[in-house]
Amino acid sequence: MNLTQIIAPSVLNANFLELGKNLQAIEQGGAELIHLDIMDGHFVPNISFGPTIAQNIKKGTSLPLDCHLMISNPENYVEAFAKAGAHYICIHAETTNHLDRLLHRIAELGCIPAVSINPATPIESIRHSLDIVQMVLIMSVNPGFGGQKLIPYTLDKIKNLRDQKPELNIQIDGGIKLDNIQEAQNAGANIFVVGSAIFESPDPQATCQKFVEKIKNPSSID
Ligand code: DX5
Ligand code: ZN
Repeated sequence: MNLTQIIAPSVLNANFLELGKNLQAIEQGGAELIHLDIMDGHFVPNISFGPTIAQNIKKGTSLPLDCHLMISNPENYVEAFAKAGAHYICIHAETTNHLDRLLHRIAELGCIPAVSINPATPIESIRHSLDIVQMVLIMSVNPGFGGQKLIPYTLDKIKNLRDQKPELNIQIDGGIKLDNIQEAQNAGANIFVVGSAIFESPDPQATCQKFVEKIKNPSSID
């Protein structure tokens, strides 16, 4: 099974005063998805932005939006993110008592349902959702902040999931750098969220290009 290998930059740590420019840079740098980290200060200890900003970002890019909802009561917000132009809506299994219902609701709204789990949440908890979602996001850091270090045991979760479902899109999010992305790819991830490594680099476009080269041509040297 040859799954598409995709870089999904997270704009969380980007300079929002230059967001338009940053969006252009990653688009030209070969990104294929834009990852939006939505945080509510309740499920995670940080606050980011909501559907209005997502809608503005949508206007500033031709790339699809991947909305990662790190919020309590996600059922109250999926419609707003669908209206904002989300392509994927990804919810955390830990945030709802009705995962099945909410994933179907996301599909009804015309978006692609995806599910995420925190590092300490076992993949067993999403076993029954694997036929509904088109992407699973394995958190490789505890959600809330960019710039953290990847937690190694999360790669074992990815390996395990890849063995179970060769055709599933598996996204990894948190702590991905040029020097560990191939390890994540070898574990079985095929969609890579990269935040600070791109947006805190002096040249986001060139850095994004390097990430793309690494995953499309795994033997390349940086
Ligand atoms: C963490 C977010 C991540 C994060 C990625 O809660 O979900 O998307 O911002 O940033 P880096 O690549 O800096 O870990
Ligand atoms: Zn994220």
